Amino acid sequence: MKIIGIQSSPRGRNSNTLKLLNAALEGAAAAGADTEIIDVAKLNIKYCIACDACHKSGICPIKDDYNAVMGKLLEADGIICSSPNYITNVTAQLKTLFDRSPLVIHEQLFEEKYGFSLTTAGSLNVDFVLDIMNAFLKSCGAIVTGGVGCAMVQGPDELKAAVSRSHEMGMDLVEAIREKRQYPEQEAEHRAWREGFKNVIMANREKWPHNVEHWTERGWL
Ligand SMILES: Cc1cc2nc3c(=O)[nH]c(=O)nc-3n(C[C@H](O)[C@H](O)[C@H](O)COP(=O)(O)O)c2cc1C
Repeated sequence: MKIIGIQSSPRGRNSNTLKLLNAALEGAAAAGADTEIIDVAKLNIKYCIACDACHKSGICPIKDDYNAVMGKLLEADGIICSSPNYITNVTAQLKTLFDRSPLVIHEQLFEEKYGFSLTTAGSLNVDFVLDIMNAFLKSCGAIVTGGVGCAMVQGPDELKAAVSRSHEMGMDLVEAIREKRQYPEQEAEHRAWREGFKNVIMANREKWPHNVEHWTERGWL
């Protein structure tokens, strides 16, 4: 079983958020998973240019590190997103990865994967940022098992507690994958999304042959 953690703070080794991610991956490893960190702050990932080529051909034509990163994420069983709160959002580095992923959303390529999110913030504002990352995972078809946020303003004990919760969440992610844990509400959300998005796929069936092929294979049309 493979769990990948996405790190997106430009502060590298000094990152508070990386402390949570390392703890989560240590938890996953203790539960028996192979783990890897992808540091999007160190990679060359350009902006999406909305060319629509991915929906036509199934691959992004931009020459940079994106396709290799997404290739690894697609092979993983679990994905942990992490980002500090940057202006009540995720970092630009992580948002750029998200924006490059419309194919993953259109074709629900994280279907059957599980994931969760981690954040730290200078203020108390952690839930909004967790929701952004978890919404991305869900919109790609994944099941979300939760999230850990640490408000640094609450002091070192709060960070210690968040590190410990992250470790537990990492272990729990492995368990969720192993037991194929059911989340009926999220599964219903996924079904409802497909029901609605079917209209968009049909309206663009000439322009998006790769999407149509995928939806046909999955029996969603
Ligand atoms: C550019 C920038 C923007 C930030 N914006 C916010 C913010 O809007 N709200 C907040 O609570 N903290 C904000 N912070 C504080 C960081 O979220 C906080 O220090 C976090 O723990 C940094 O995580 P890191 O060490 O993993 O990079 C900001 C920090 C930076 C550098």
